Amino acid sequence: MKTVITYGTFDLFHIGHLNLLKRAKELGDYLIVAVSSDAFNRVKGKICCIPDYERMEIVEAIKYVDKVIPENSWEQKVDDIKKYNVDVFVMGDDWRGKFDDLKKYCEVVYLPRTEGISTTQIKDELKS
Ligand code: CTP
Repeated sequence: MKTVITYGTFDLFHIGHLNLLKRAKELGDYLIVAVSSDAFNRVKGKICCIPDYERMEIVEAIKYVDKVIPENSWEQKVDDIKKYNVDVFVMGDDWRGKFDDLKKYCEVVYLPRTEGISTTQIKDELKS
């Protein structure tokens, strides 16, 4: 069985998130999604519209997703890869090159983002 992992905030869940999760699942058999906790977002200076337990529940309900775990720190990725015997680490290509260190532990894949949508853009459009 090939295990895939990806990380994200998934605030105001949108089609870019869905496309990413669908393509991530296509890279293996079992998809784990680490959803950033509100506490971790505070560390990053990011404020979400939707609380972490609801973002996790939404992502968990997506048919491509097999397991959801919280993301609480930058450093947990190596531990997660070892703990869950991860074969493929996937991120959108806005992160290209940023996680190449993880190639020591598993395959690292950057998928192209869906054009024209992001949580930031939705928030900005709602404001204006
Ligand atoms: N993603 C994507 N296409 C988009 C938006 C996001 O493929 N249009 C991917 C990101 O690259 C990441 C995952 O979805 O791998 C979760 O992204 P996240 O940062 O939660 O979503 P964004 O919409 O990019 O949020 P923000 O605007 O707050 O950065």
